[in-house]
Amino acid sequence: MAEFDYDVLVIGAGPGGYVAAIRAAQLGLKTACAESRETLGGTCLNVGCIPSKALLHASELFEEAASGSLAKFGVKISGAELDLPAMLGEKDKAVKGLTGGIEFLFKKNKVDWLKGRATFTGPHAVTVAGKAVTAKNIVIATGSSVTPLPGVAIDNDGGVVVDSTGGLSLAKVPEHMVVIGGGVIGLELGSVWRRLGAKVTVVEYLDQILPGMDGDVRKEAAKIFKKQGFAIKTGTKVTGVTVNGKSATVTVEPAAGGASEAIDADVVLVAIGRRANTEGLGLDAIGLALNARGQIETDHEFATTVPGVWAIGDVIPGPMLAHKAEDEGVAVAENIAGLTGIVNHDVIPAVVYTHPEIASVGLTEEQAKERGAIKIGKFPMMANSRAKANDDTDGFVKIIADADSDRVLGVHIIATPAGTMIAQAAQAMEFGASSEDIAYTCHAHPTHNEAVKEAAMAVRGQPIHI
Ligand code: FAD
Ligand code: NAI
Repeated sequence: MAEFDYDVLVIGAGPGGYVAAIRAAQLGLKTACAESRETLGGTCLNVGCIPSKALLHASELFEEAASGSLAKFGVKISGAELDLPAMLGEKDKAVKGLTGGIEFLFKKNKVDWLKGRATFTGPHAVTVAGKAVTAKNIVIATGSSVTPLPGVAIDNDGGVVVDSTGGLSLAKVPEHMVVIGGGVIGLELGSVWRRLGAKVTVVEYLDQILPGMDGDVRKEAAKIFKKQGFAIKTGTKVTGVTVNGKSATVTVEPAAGGASEAIDADVVLVAIGRRANTEGLGLDAIGLALNARGQIETDHEFATTVPGVWAIGDVIPGPMLAHKAEDEGVAVAENIAGLTGIVNHDVIPAVVYTHPEIASVGLTEEQAKERGAIKIGKFPMMANSRAKANDDTDGFVKIIADADSDRVLGVHIIATPAGTMIAQAAQAMEFGASSEDIAYTCHAHPTHNEAVKEAAMAVRGQPIHI
């Protein structure tokens, strides 16, 4: 009889966990994945990436149809109406299709889905829904959940003070939505409800939105969002939220102190970040400590300090992004199988799926300057022929290169298809490209990506079209 029930047991079936489980099974390891949710796919597929992108797409179609903005292209629409239940239904259909798809992939790859919450009883043992299960290797991929704002109770069912999960399923379009947190979720979900007709006020504690992004990008993005109608209050802290039946009053004051102000809202969306899911995992039973931010630390192979226990995704340090979790899922499975699984954490793209999209990879200008001399090339979308043809010219491409070697250190893009454009920058950086390499690569015309080539030419001060 085998010493363990499984070679690999993955805890959590989000993009980190389900990918790790499938890759482990592909490598011939007997694999199970424990998931406490009713469906597979984790935060991303159920209440994150997928439903938010489905609503961003649908709300953009609505705004285009209803605002009259298509008339200049000769497309006249009158009487466009919002059918919110249909829009939410379409989003739910996308979620159902994709989460069901993971179930199919588990069956295809012979990954056992253990339904229920897993708790460690030893380094090679957990209980799932009361049943003991053992495995030679256990991968913690439990993800993250919303950081609460002290003193503010989230009630997604009530629909007045909600987090991102509630914000994906509001029963009606709010008149006034106050978003607490000018980060990715606030701007994406704020965009959805603004396009559908809500007035949206973003309250951000810091002096700029989109923390961690390149300074030029943060400034330009704020300008664009304000032009779209967002009210943005930076340098402002929320001191309380009072719910009065079907609405709420948000009390704010300047972050540096000063007179307070009351803002009435019918929906308050709390989006101030996410934190690692480790509660109830029984980490004490295996002597696994957390870092100061409540995350699990690993080495570069994703091994924790407890032999046989590994960790990946949002529960470990690094950007909380689905593709980062997925790549770590592949790498950890390969390391468990005795191969060499590596993730280059210097080249993880990040995308904000607003209109225009905001995408970046590598170092910001501020970070790069701290490390040494740099050169910068910038090209406005206003001078890109495809963006001009589409009359959709907000944004720019900015390339940061090492002053001596010309190696590309970071790329930052604001453009309608920035999320797609950033892939070429990530690939170039992965291959160790110089800005000259990009400048001398033939790009198809007319494409938005030509702006990447021109920004690379601008690193040496010689773009053609400006
Ligand atoms: P998760 O996806 O959080 O999955 C962890 C799973 O583990 C969960 O299903 C949970 O139920 C389960 N679990 C936890 N504890 C246990 C236990 N003890 N036993 C059994 N199961 C357990 N990222 C992007 O890259 N692009 C996007 O566009 C994007 N949009 C987002 C939009 C929103 C609104 C949100 C909230 C997040 C978004 N993200 C996006 C972030 C992305 O969802 C996460 O980075 C990603 O899901 C992390 O994957 P993970 O596998 O580490 O964890
Ligand atoms: P975030 O970290 O992006 O932004 C949170 C914002 O809230 C920050 O600007 C912060 O300064 C501000 N803040 C914190 N406390 C505050 C307070 N008390 N009052 C006012 N402002 C306050 O976090 P967010 O938007 O909640 O998203 C969580 C994570 O989910 C992100 O880190 C991101 O990685 C992931 N995500 C990714 C998406 C994507 O890739 N497109 C989409 C949505 C989420």
